Amino acid sequence: MTRREDAVLRVGEQEYTLPVIVGSEGEIAVDINRLRGASGLVTFDRGFANTAETKSAITFLDGEQGILRYRGYPIEQLAEQATFLEVAYLLANGRLPSRPQLDDYADEITHHTMLREDMKHLFEAFPKEAHPMHILASAISALATYYPDALDPGDPWAKDISMKRLLAKVPTMVAWSFRYGRNQPFVYPRNDLDYVANFLNMMFSFPTENYEVDPTVSKALNVLFILHADHEQNCSATTVRVVGSGHANLFSSVAAGVHALSGPLHGGANQGVVEMLESIVGAGGGIGPFVQRAKDKDDPFRLMGFGHRVYKNFDPRAQIIKRYAQEVLAKLDTADPLLEVAMQLEEVALGDDYFIEKKLYPNVDFYSGIIYRAMGFPTELFTVLFAIGRLPGWIAQWHEMQQDPTTRIGRPRQIYVGEPKRDWVAMEDRSA
Ligand code: SDX
Repeated sequence: MTRREDAVLRVGEQEYTLPVIVGSEGEIAVDINRLRGASGLVTFDRGFANTAETKSAITFLDGEQGILRYRGYPIEQLAEQATFLEVAYLLANGRLPSRPQLDDYADEITHHTMLREDMKHLFEAFPKEAHPMHILASAISALATYYPDALDPGDPWAKDISMKRLLAKVPTMVAWSFRYGRNQPFVYPRNDLDYVANFLNMMFSFPTENYEVDPTVSKALNVLFILHADHEQNCSATTVRVVGSGHANLFSSVAAGVHALSGPLHGGANQGVVEMLESIVGAGGGIGPFVQRAKDKDDPFRLMGFGHRVYKNFDPRAQIIKRYAQEVLAKLDTADPLLEVAMQLEEVALGDDYFIEKKLYPNVDFYSGIIYRAMGFPTELFTVLFAIGRLPGWIAQWHEMQQDPTTRIGRPRQIYVGEPKRDWVAMEDRSA
């Protein structure tokens, strides 16, 4: 962390000198950690759009250049070259594993994919039509009840085993809640399959016949999980950090992150995109009215899958996913009218002054749902697939926060705009 000449804040007649810090990629920040103590002032910043709450070495984004790197490695290279578990190891440990390290890591994860048998009753307790994101958040929370001996975030053994248990067991949870919702038998994990193939087998195989994992689907899902693995201080990662900053255990912190991701403005957007595209197709395929609605300030409708807090140019993930959508549909020999509509919508929007001025481009959610559909996943599972991909990122962010000696419990200030002091009014003296 290098320093630059201090910043000077002038408020009225007063001047306050504030340190300036510079990140390893040249990002510059005014350090206001002592601002209130020195001046009584706080800053006001909705959605933390201009505020860095932490220093982090995990992921670097450059929204203007469309750059995304995990531990310094460009997302384009990782998507093409790495396996999802290799990226999970990289995010958690800060370096690419050697072959023995990766084999040992994968073996450990494989041997934690089983759920306790009594956990089946948890899935059976939900309504068949329950949204899988709500089930997933509950099931991850429940892990804290099944493993009470390994919850202490200050215990290195507990942290390590919980990080591996969480990464290993979530695909099994997702598959089992999916199967239960369809009155199908649970399929147990298989130790002879890799992480992604094992998930697909638990999702789509039947005890009555052999099931071969389609290598095209497995490779594409591996790439999609990598593309979703981390994204620095997004809404759900920030939620995980804030909950964990109170020394809550990993399962409770990540369960909160799942809830944050379920919002349609965040991870829920991939489901929203497909539902929007289906509406367009259902309305005859005309995209004009939808673009007009998205531009109408009085209409709450937004083009789902468009826009981003950080990317004010293209989202590099969307570009890779768009290419994969075309490849996977071709390889699976399935046409999807939604892909055509999505590409038309992108073309129209990117040529429209509203989207150009507001720098709204397709984000990671715009094309991912089309690939998930082609793979056979139902729309309501799309955000759950985002959550599986984001697990290593949440785990790495929680771990970095826990390890950081400068971490403080997340507790922002506010600007009070309510009533001034006033006295109690007896019931009989109150107006109607
Ligand atoms: C993810 O943070 C991350 O890194 C998230 C994520 C990750 O990997 O974790 O990348 C994943 O969440 C991607 C985003 C998925 N959400 C959507 O696709 C939902 C649609 N997009 C938006 O709601 C919006 O663009 C956000 C939420 C993504 C970003 O919101 P911001 O940064 O707070 O921007 P904003 O809402 O202030 O919008 C700026 C302007 C507004 O107009 P004005 O008030 O300035 O006139 O752009 C407009 C917005 O109305 N706008 C849109 C729009 N998105 C923003 N108008 C129409 N359609 C849209 N999609």
